[in-house]
Amino acid sequence: MSLAPFGAAALNQALIGQAGSRSRLETPAAVLDLDIFERNIATLADTCKRAGIAFRPHAKSHKCAEIARRQMAAGASGICCAKPGELLALFEGGANDLTLSAPIASGAKIDALARAAAKGARIGVVVDRLDLVAAYAEAAARHGARFDVFVDLDTGLNRSGVANGQEAVSLARAITDQPSLRYVGVQAYQGRVQHIDDFAARRSANDAANRILAAMLEVLKQAGLAPGIVSGGGTGSHLLDGQAQVLTEVQPGSYVFMDEAYDPVDIYGNGGPEFGPALRVAVTVIGHSSPGFAITDGGSKSFALDGPPPRVFRSGEPIGRIEWCGDEFGRILPEPGHGTIPIGTVVECTVPHCDPTINLHDFLHVVSEDRLVSLWSVEARGRAD
Ligand SMILES: Cc1ncc(COP(=O)(O)O)c(C=O)c1O
Repeated sequence: MSLAPFGAAALNQALIGQAGSRSRLETPAAVLDLDIFERNIATLADTCKRAGIAFRPHAKSHKCAEIARRQMAAGASGICCAKPGELLALFEGGANDLTLSAPIASGAKIDALARAAAKGARIGVVVDRLDLVAAYAEAAARHGARFDVFVDLDTGLNRSGVANGQEAVSLARAITDQPSLRYVGVQAYQGRVQHIDDFAARRSANDAANRILAAMLEVLKQAGLAPGIVSGGGTGSHLLDGQAQVLTEVQPGSYVFMDEAYDPVDIYGNGGPEFGPALRVAVTVIGHSSPGFAITDGGSKSFALDGPPPRVFRSGEPIGRIEWCGDEFGRILPEPGHGTIPIGTVVECTVPHCDPTINLHDFLHVVSEDRLVSLWSVEARGRAD
């Protein structure tokens, strides 16, 4: 369900289509540079297609039904979600091929997922416990629905998943025994690999995870339970996964937006950057601190701070970095040659970490060149449940 704009987005709505509106936004406002975003979507889809690997992008990074729709239009095999609340919000927003990429332990949430499946959505889930297989089977049967089920494998992240082939076989067998479940494959997400900056070091970490995965896949194959889909990987590893051909699909999330945490990662091994900073937060200069630094109206309530400090752009030109000075304030540390920035100036900042930053915003202000072109609601914002 697309929300009617409120707050700064409601004030900004009147600017849609106006020349120069990009630099007149009410702030703080999450901004999506449409041109960079579309290039990011196309680059990943193209890389995966050429490598012969499918992609099931992760919505934890954007939480937005319109972005999920565009990822599907670019050829995605479905959309991953991190939490039931995130999945259900995107389902309400119109997405209908959604996979919950983590095991859960709540009968009420399993029931809500089964109700979505009964309404016609294709709902995928992952399991790493036999009782969870039974709970999904019971809820799906009760609602006359069916879940697509992935066995979750741990290849070194030590977060979820079973770490040996025999346990994977038991789970796969339990799934195939249930008429309300469909055994579609396995998930093996190796999160530690994704942010290794150096390409060769990332390749060798990914290869190590793939050796663990390949051994478990062999045990499943010997048991007659070879998975149809082998899902995992992310923005940092998708090219390597396409080359290794152990996974059959990747789950990249951050690539749509990018952030300062990913900026140093040499994703394709050629010095990059292949993916640009599409997500920004626009802030306004509201004053000057005593040594003359410009103070902005956005702090930790507008940016998740768990990453390197943002770069600041004024009319598209980089002018410095943000230093935090409170929940509602930032301080611009200008590069030489960029002097006083007048009060009322709107600048755009890259984000330290995109996933938790978008979780702070109800709307994306979609901009192209110098103008605001649309508002997209972030339906699953706040849905960490
Ligand atoms: C299970 C799973 N898949 C995919 C991703 C996407 O990773 P990235 O944003 O690095 O592409 C994540 C991110 O945390 C994840 O937890």
